Amino acid sequence: MAEHSTHSATALLELHVNGSRHVLPLDLRTTLLDALREHLGLYGAKKGCDQGQCGACTVHVNGRRSLACLSLAIAHQQDEITTIEGLQQNGALHPMQQAFLEFDGFQCGYCTPGQIMSAIALLAEAAGHPLSPAEIRERMSGNICRCGAYPNIVEAIQHVQEAAK
Ligand code: FES
Ligand code: FES
Repeated sequence: MAEHSTHSATALLELHVNGSRHVLPLDLRTTLLDALREHLGLYGAKKGCDQGQCGACTVHVNGRRSLACLSLAIAHQQDEITTIEGLQQNGALHPMQQAFLEFDGFQCGYCTPGQIMSAIALLAEAAGHPLSPAEIRERMSGNICRCGAYPNIVEAIQHVQEAAK
C-alpha cells in the first residue's frame, strides 16, 4: 500500500473475539485495537501510545499476548482474539482479575486490562516454571504503569502463580 495514498479500501473482515464471530466492514488499514474499540465496542484494551511502547492495548491472540495497536485487523481473520471482557467465566472473575483486586494492583486502572492480559500470558509462557519477582518484573516490563503500581502487580501475579501450584 503506497504511503502517500489518500484512498481507503473497505472490505468485510471476519474477526473471532471472545468466542464470537463478527463480520465487519472495515477500512483495510484499521488496526486490531481500533476494530475492537471502535467497531466492537470493547473498550477494555486501551489506546495509550498507539505505537507499541506502553502495553495498554495488550490482548491475547491464540493465547499469546499481543499489542493490538501494532497489527492490522485484516491480519487476524484466522485468529482467536481474547480481550479482558472475555476473561470472565459464568460471571466469575478470572483468578488474575481477582488477584489484582485483592492486592491493589492498580490505581487509576488505565493500564490494568493490559497488565492483566499480559500477566495471564506470562504465566502460560512460563509453563509452570516458577518465576521470581525479578523475572516477573522483567517479563512485565512492556506494560507501563504511570501510577507506579508495580510492586502490587508483581504480588498479584506471584499470588496466582502460587495458587496454581
Ligand atoms: Fe499499544 Fe501503547 S497502545 S502499546
Ligand atoms: Fe494508573 Fe497503571 S494504574 S497507569
